[in-house]
Amino acid sequence: MKKIFLYGNWKMHNGIKETETFFKDLCEHVCEDVVICDFLSRNFLEICIFPPFTSLFMGARILGYMGKTGLFIGAQNGHYEEKGAFTGEISFPMVQELGCTRVLLGHSERRHIFNESNELINKKLKASLQRRLRPVLCIGETFSERESDLTFQVLENQINAAIKGLDKENIRNIIWAYEPVWAIGTGRTASPENAQEACCFARSVISKVVRDEGKDKTWNSIPILYGGSVKASNVAGLLEQPDIDGALIGGASLSVESMLEIVHAALHRG
Ligand code: PGA
Repeated sequence: MKKIFLYGNWKMHNGIKETETFFKDLCEHVCEDVVICDFLSRNFLEICIFPPFTSLFMGARILGYMGKTGLFIGAQNGHYEEKGAFTGEISFPMVQELGCTRVLLGHSERRHIFNESNELINKKLKASLQRRLRPVLCIGETFSERESDLTFQVLENQINAAIKGLDKENIRNIIWAYEPVWAIGTGRTASPENAQEACCFARSVISKVVRDEGKDKTWNSIPILYGGSVKASNVAGLLEQPDIDGALIGGASLSVESMLEIVHAALHRG
């Protein structure tokens, strides 16, 4: 039995109206279909949607009202300080107050467009874990890094820099997302074999830090998602891979129809 994580990153899409319709439809269908499929295929499913800040309240309100298990809402970003003179920023306690239980950190758009450094990501990671807001930490190489055979080196650096100063217990609470930058929003998904190779490598790096020799295997159950042009037609092949526990979905998570197609493809794979 495998626990599958299907996480939808909406980026700067879907305002309040679209969010209301999406969450209502998702809750209804998850109730009707997914729970039954979930039971029949003996998978556990966890869905989390990351709307823009202004849509969080609406999404959380509907989730709370419909009271569904296995459905979560998360924030796409947050400041590491709880409050202060940081014009334009939003803190972790603020998004928790709205109902968020997850936060995306280190997304390649934050790293490359907004110049977020490994040091900043480390600060945010520490703050989110301290607040018990579960982080989804994104890592991944650019196309030129892959071409220069630097993929493993980049992943190892990003992992080690992100978890610097954290204890094992906290590291075990991180959900990881391997997202090759060249596959995000481009329609070019990594092949299942390439994605598996990178996720397997990331797991080995993380396990070196969190593993208690001879004692436990919890490192083996650390969730690692794949992200980058995931859709209904390719999700099953990716989830078949032993080191891929789920998907972080951008464009294909924006409409409830497409999200539900992915859910079904994931549950009925093989
Ligand atoms: P995409 O985005 O599925 O549109 O490629 C994934 C992401 O940025 O997390």
